[in-house]
Amino acid sequence: MKGRYWIDTWGCQMNEHDSEKMAGVLEGLGYLPAASREEADVLLLNTCAVREKAEEKVYAALGQIEGLKRRRPELIVGVTGCVAQMAGDALLQRAPWLDLVLGPRAEGRLPDLLARAAERRGIVDTTLYQDGLFPPGQPVRRDPARVKAYVTVMEGCNKTCTYCIVPRTRGREVSRPLADVLEEVRRLAGEGYREVEFLGQNVNAYRCPATRAGLADLLRGAAAISGIERIRFTTSHPLHLRPPIIQAMAELPQVCDHLHLPVQSGSSRILAAMRRGYDRELYLARVAALREAVPGISLSTDVIVGFPGEGEAEFEETLSLLETVRFDQVYSFVYSPRPGTPAAGLPDDVPRGVKIERLMRLQALQRRIQLESNARLVGRTVEVLVEGPSRRDAAEWAGRTTSNRVVNFPGAGVRPGDRVAVTITAAGPNSLRGEVAPRRAAARS
Ligand code: SAH
Ligand code: SF4
Ligand code: F3S
Repeated sequence: MKGRYWIDTWGCQMNEHDSEKMAGVLEGLGYLPAASREEADVLLLNTCAVREKAEEKVYAALGQIEGLKRRRPELIVGVTGCVAQMAGDALLQRAPWLDLVLGPRAEGRLPDLLARAAERRGIVDTTLYQDGLFPPGQPVRRDPARVKAYVTVMEGCNKTCTYCIVPRTRGREVSRPLADVLEEVRRLAGEGYREVEFLGQNVNAYRCPATRAGLADLLRGAAAISGIERIRFTTSHPLHLRPPIIQAMAELPQVCDHLHLPVQSGSSRILAAMRRGYDRELYLARVAALREAVPGISLSTDVIVGFPGEGEAEFEETLSLLETVRFDQVYSFVYSPRPGTPAAGLPDDVPRGVKIERLMRLQALQRRIQLESNARLVGRTVEVLVEGPSRRDAAEWAGRTTSNRVVNFPGAGVRPGDRVAVTITAAGPNSLRGEVAPRRAAARS
């Protein structure tokens, strides 16, 4: 054994999966997981820069770790992910004791850099490597308690949303060959995974570099692999959600009845200022097409409130869009200016108090909508893929419907990975409760 590693992870699913990849690389080198930061010989902070708050968490963690490093100078500390990419050398100015600063696309170089870190501290690599991003057979250390496996299908983002730091931290879009992705899915099915989630910041734009096959082909290929019962993909951009993808979703029973489709705002003027590439009408048209092809599909979204120049009437257009679409989940954020993005240069005339008040109003409305839609499920029997013990009550199980709703239920003889028919008995805004149905008569919901 080389020593022990610990990785703290912030941010999106892509970052979570990058941590799984780095853990795989470290275990391949002979490191074992540590039980805590204090026990680690290699300590990585895999960071997110999407909003100022996310970035502040990293600096707070660095403050805590400095003491550890002082007591044990041989400890190797690295910052990886989006803050590493954004801040680069500046991180070393703030924390000169850091050993490694690695951008998301340089994480594959971890073995090399770790070897060098022993002699030379303070290595920064923020190269946006285009090649060798997804070496076939790359070791990945997935959480064995998870029933779902993440699979990267593309990296980067070519969009130019004016508020967003991601294109800068993740670089230009690069897709992985379709054959490699399917090979990984086959391997995962062999390991017993029932559910895969394809990851990309703009996953609808997936294009196999060898065959030019798109996301629809990838979905068909994965659905043909026996053992794979559920397929999800994230994140979808409304503009790229084209008919072939919708068609594949409608045809393939393995593709889940849920889509995360970030809208950001309900106002066409604000959407133009955000440079999202669609307006309110186009978004609603995409939702209508989707619902026609996949009746009952569940939708979730992201919303930014208080974008510079957002007036009360424009904010109300977002509220009315939420009422119209009736999402099952909304992730809402107060706009946070990101250094170097075009929106950061805009005069921001929306007072902080107003932004927060809008966020509260939006969340209250969404809570009501979710309660109403979940209440309609009481009495229905749904198929639940069991994930593990419930967070609230370890004597109960928690799992998800294909529509991504969390269901808690008691049950003997149930194991993670089972698909169980559960009759819903109670509904809250964020989860459902139920009982195992006497017969296996699950409806898809
Ligand atoms: N690729 C995805 C989302 C990436 S970031 C997409 O295009 O939808 C995840 C979410 O964070 C975004 O959908 C957006 O709602 C939010 N976000 C991004 N930048 C932000 C900023 N500067 N301030 C507040 N929220 C932001
Ligand atoms: Fe950011 Fe827009 Fe790309 Fe999403 S599509 S990652 S919001 S630039
Ligand atoms: Fe955050 Fe980077 Fe993901 S900024 S949301 S970790 S792509």
